[in-house]
Amino acid sequence: MKASAISHRVFCLHADIKTDDLFEGIWPIPEGVSLNTYLVKGEKIALIDLIRDWTGAPGQVEDALKGLGLGFSDIDYLILNHLEPDHSGWLREFRAQNPRAEILATAKGINLVKSFYKIEDGLRAVKDGETLDLGGGMELQFFETPNIHWPETMVTWEPKSGTLFTCDAFGSFGTLGERVFDDEFSPAEHDFFEKETLRYYANIVSSFSLFVEKAVQKLSALDIQCIAPSHGIVWRKNPKTIIDRYVRYASYAKGPAEKEIAIVWGSMYGSTKQGLDAVIRGIEAEGVPYSIHRIPDENVSYVLADAYKSRGLLIAMPTYEYAMFPPMAYMLDIFRRKHINGKTVLRIGSWGWVGGAKKEYEAAIEPLKWNSLESVEWAGSPTAEEIKVLEDRGRELARTVSA
Ligand code: FEO
Repeated sequence: MKASAISHRVFCLHADIKTDDLFEGIWPIPEGVSLNTYLVKGEKIALIDLIRDWTGAPGQVEDALKGLGLGFSDIDYLILNHLEPDHSGWLREFRAQNPRAEILATAKGINLVKSFYKIEDGLRAVKDGETLDLGGGMELQFFETPNIHWPETMVTWEPKSGTLFTCDAFGSFGTLGERVFDDEFSPAEHDFFEKETLRYYANIVSSFSLFVEKAVQKLSALDIQCIAPSHGIVWRKNPKTIIDRYVRYASYAKGPAEKEIAIVWGSMYGSTKQGLDAVIRGIEAEGVPYSIHRIPDENVSYVLADAYKSRGLLIAMPTYEYAMFPPMAYMLDIFRRKHINGKTVLRIGSWGWVGGAKKEYEAAIEPLKWNSLESVEWAGSPTAEEIKVLEDRGRELARTVSA
């Protein structure tokens, strides 16, 4: 992959990862992900963020370096904004090729360099606001942005080009190919990246939304011309677009989210599905948009994205062996771990021998502070009267969400 110039001294070098592996061992990435690193040239040369040895990423970055007439051994400073191994996993191999480069990170980051990679020498902990003079009029400045999404995270600022290197923040899933800049992608491609940005945010960043807001506020005095994350598009034309998008996503964590409903359902033999269809008729009658996800068929990663951005949830599941349908128990546990708080929710479902989902469900959602509408449960398949109640409850959910 060739290097892409942000300025005549600042370059994006990226590797596209196409794999069946799960991101973080959890989240599917059927459309891949990019690992972006950045090179800044003064009299000294800095590399900002690294890669892991994943589907040939080191070779892709090495090719980009070669295109600039450089190799890993030419790097004077390696800046690690974040130590999660997608950005640091190749550190020992880098160190073997380049024993002299100084590795810079926050103090917490340096501790992670030691614990993950057993490297003790050539490390420098940088403080909030500290600068690094590269010579030739080029300087880097570091700002701590803790908990986006690990405690050690920081961003790096290059004032000449106005580029902010943000690592995970403002990133997305999706590979880039030969283009990296926002002005090089079509509207359809931007639609794709917007969806993958939301999924990335909901899966990885959402629990830390308060810290996203704090970081955006802290960095607001910078004259940002380019947002350069370590996953996804580099925003040189409209950096405000991705900043605003992240601020909006962060706001969903405390509500209000979008006036939409995310339907999450599972059914064993179709009885719960009959009731679900009735609720959907009620929602459609009110004209409120909804997304629909059947579990366990659909991966939780996608469910999480729509649930996170929606004000309303419809949870439809049967009782299974005196308790919740097991895939829904897993889904609700993910919702709890990812703080899918403050939603307006309707739960429905059928039972066969006897109910039981209710008790386990109520315990599972207790920490989520949901506004629960009155649930509807029925024995076997729903009666005509119950169908009518379900349609009405669908209308009520839709009206509450759109109010
Ligand atoms: Fe892209 Fe938190 O690592």
